[in-house]
This record gives sequence, C-alpha cells and structure tokens, in this order.
Amino acid sequence: MLADAFGREVTDIRISVTKRCNFGCIYCHDEGLGPVARPRAAHEDEMTPTEVERLVVVARELGIRSVKFTGGEPLVRSDLEEIIDRTVRQIPDVSLTTNGSMLEKRAEALRDAGLKRVNVSVDTTDPEEFRSIRKGSLAPVLRGIREALRVGLKPVKLNTVVFRRNLPNIPRMIDFVGSSDGLKLQLIQFMPELIDHRSWVVDMQEVKDWLEQNSSHVYVREMHHRHVYVVRGAEVEVVDPVYNREFCSNCHRIRVTHRGELKGCLNRNDDLVPTRGLDDDALRGAFRTVITTRVPFYGGFVREFPAPSSARGAPFELPMVQDPSS
Ligand code: 5AD
Ligand code: SF4
Repeated sequence: MLADAFGREVTDIRISVTKRCNFGCIYCHDEGLGPVARPRAAHEDEMTPTEVERLVVVARELGIRSVKFTGGEPLVRSDLEEIIDRTVRQIPDVSLTTNGSMLEKRAEALRDAGLKRVNVSVDTTDPEEFRSIRKGSLAPVLRGIREALRVGLKPVKLNTVVFRRNLPNIPRMIDFVGSSDGLKLQLIQFMPELIDHRSWVVDMQEVKDWLEQNSSHVYVREMHHRHVYVVRGAEVEVVDPVYNREFCSNCHRIRVTHRGELKGCLNRNDDLVPTRGLDDDALRGAFRTVITTRVPFYGGFVREFPAPSSARGAPFELPMVQDPSS
C-alpha cells in the first residue's frame, strides 16, 4: 500500500464519470471542478469504460480497496452498469453517489452489475424546499431510494448538506432516516471554498454538540475520523472537512476527474495529474506521483482560509429532536 509523506495510506478512490447533471443544486461544488454541465452537453471528454477499468486495475495493484463513482450525476451515463461490472472484477467494494432522480429504473441493473451501496443526496423531505435548493423533484428521488433498499443496495446513505438555510430540515431528515430500515444519514459540511457563499457556513462543532446531546451512542470511523451519532435510532455521520486537521490527517482517498486526471485532494484543482494515453508503466508512475505528493490541509490552495473561530458565534437554530427530560 502506498502512503504520502504524512503517513496517510491511500485505500480508497473516488472516480467522477461525468460533469453533467440534471439537477442544479445551489451549493454544488462539482467535485471542485467548477460549474456542472447540462445532461445533453458535449461529453467527448468523459472516460470510456475501458479507461476507467485501466485506472482501477492499477489502483488495485497499489492496494486501493474501495471505489466510489460520482459526477456530476453518474446516472446520466447509460454505460454506468458496464463501468461497474468491469470495476467489481478488480475491486469488489464499489459504491455510487447519485442525486437519485434516475435511480428507480436502474437500481436492480446496478446491483446485478455488482454495485454494493448508494449515497443519495437529499437535503430536505419538503418537496417545495427540495425544488428550491436542488432545481429538481423529490418524488422520483424517494422512489429511487425505496427501490435501492428493495434490491439490497444497503445501507442507503442520504447526504444532506449542512448550510444555514437547511438547518431546520435536519431534525426531519433524522426522523425520516430513523423511520426506515437500511437508511443512514450523512451530514456534509457546506464547503464554501470554491463557491463564494461564506455566509452560508455553519459551525459544525455546534451541530456535533447538538447531535451528541441527542444521541444514545457515538463512535469514530477510521476514514477521516468521522464521528457517527445514533440519534433516536438513526445513524448520523458527520463529514466536516473544512479547516479540520483531524479530517485531513485521516484522509485515505484520492480522486479522479471525469477526464481521467488524478487528484490528491477534493478541494484543490491545481494538482491534477493527467493519465490519458499513458502506457501501463507511466500510469503506475502517475498514481505514485499523486499519492506520494499529496499534502493535507488543501496544500495552501485556499489562500484565504477562514480561521476556525471566524465561523463560530453565529446563532444555531436547530430545534431539539427530543426533550432530554422526557
Ligand atoms: N458542500 C458540501 N457538499 C456538497 N455537495 C455538493 N456540493 C457541496 C458543497 N459545496 C455534496 C452533495 C452530494 C455530494 C456528491 O457532494 O450533496 O451529496
Ligand atoms: Fe451538483 Fe450533485 Fe446537485 Fe448535480 S445533484 S447539481 S452534481 S450537487
């Protein structure tokens, strides 16, 4: 297994297969690469299934044990099943992050291709609010989640972005997840670095304190040292990378853009290592370069990084899920 100069072994790879998306979320950072493209936009620059497979073969050789496919929206690609089928032959642990809007019809075929789990982005259970944030409909997403559970793509993790406006929706998301077997919640800190909305930022420590007060159990995952809280029967995992030393110090993930460039850190786009057209040895070399040169804390790419204290002090408006005295 390869590690960087900070002792971080790389065990996980996140591969974007497109930058196209049928939604238009107001917070979208598009994996750090700038605006998403519409579904029918030109896509000659997307990797072919064969190109993805070549990357995965080398990733496996270097000790990478899990793959996550992302976009844009990966399901705009009609050949995603083929990509997954070829990937699981190399690395069986394959999951997918999707907006869920096109999942219902394909969940079974994806499972048959070897997909193990899905993450579906849902910020709110209110259809109007959902449309306003995501520029898409909630109902097909809920049908997609139900179908994913039915065919056994478990657990289905719901991704909720935590930004100021969305705080009141979080207790309802927790209740929604708690009421259905097979669902988990991931609260993802809004990342303001690449889209300039600093005022949307929420102090995640206050969110974590609130979760802890309302939880029956807390544990810490190896990946990113993410904290998981069990709140009223719902598992709630907090993903808080922004200015988080502990998160970066425990990051075991590299990324690949839809054009096949390797990337050492989500929040940078000045560290891309192209792989297209490389022979096998050069491809291995590209992986080694990106893994051994990756640095934590965004490598100083985000020059005006807010001090942790500057995000504090804003009013935190989450209502209690449960009265602790009851
Ligand atoms: N901050 C935090 N999370 C984001 N996502 C997209 N943009 C942002 C952002 N600016 C999340 C989506 C999706 C996942 C791929 O990334 O909710 O679940
Ligand atoms: Fe961006 Fe994902 Fe929303 Fe599409 S669904 S706009 S890729 S965050």
